[in-house]
Amino acid sequence: MNDRVATAAAALDAVAAPLGLARLESMGEAESGAYRFYSTRLRRGTIFSDYEIALARTLTEWPAAPRRIHEVGGGFGSLCLLLALLGFKSTCLELDARRFAAAEALRDGLTDAFVEIRDGYQLLNERFPLARGALPPTGAMAVITNLVFTTSAGEKAEILAALRDYDRAIIDVDRFLTPCETAGQRAERLAELEAAGLYGAPFLDLGKSACFYRFGSR
Ligand SMILES: C[S@@+](CC[C@H](N)C(=O)[O-])C[C@H]1O[C@@H](n2cnc3c(N)ncnc32)[C@H](O)[C@@H]1O
Repeated sequence: MNDRVATAAAALDAVAAPLGLARLESMGEAESGAYRFYSTRLRRGTIFSDYEIALARTLTEWPAAPRRIHEVGGGFGSLCLLLALLGFKSTCLELDARRFAAAEALRDGLTDAFVEIRDGYQLLNERFPLARGALPPTGAMAVITNLVFTTSAGEKAEILAALRDYDRAIIDVDRFLTPCETAGQRAERLAELEAAGLYGAPFLDLGKSACFYRFGSR
């Protein structure tokens, strides 16, 4: 493992994991925002998933990676916190109020210890896309890990149109709003994204855990 990424993740976990676990235990799963996989992660002593660590490693090893990251549906903000500590300027967008409150608590617990979080990490309780001009995509890269979420056709069309404004986007194509279970479904997903003007190439395949493609407009 890239030591820099592992070391940064461990440093964040030393503060954030006990903090998140204490919130989970005092507030309960629903109120703490730690529903679904977040409670499992916290009970394992981490705020990170394997695919977040792997993606952060790949981004640090990509010399041309844009230094500004906009993550759509960042949940607790774990990936963006890690990227900020690794020198990126990251913005986490999270629409769910309780998930966002958890992300705020983690950020507040980390800012004193990590100047990079204070200066390089932004957390917004917003639905992507934001109003035009609110978060300019110029020079930034959109990042989407697991974004499985109930979304109307109109909302999906707005997300796709806004992603086209980014020169670069990294997306887990198997978990983009609805899950893909088969190679055929993934091929349909890629065709759908291409029809929306998003042209992808494989970026990081983690098997069942995540399948990231790198997108750009032609
Ligand atoms: C399945 S969770 C995964 C969180 C994180 N990406 C991860 O992999 O750990 C997806 C999150 O995206 C958020 N979300 C869904 N659509 C969104 C949108 N259009 N803008 C901002 N957040 C969104 C949901 O509230 C939810 O917390």
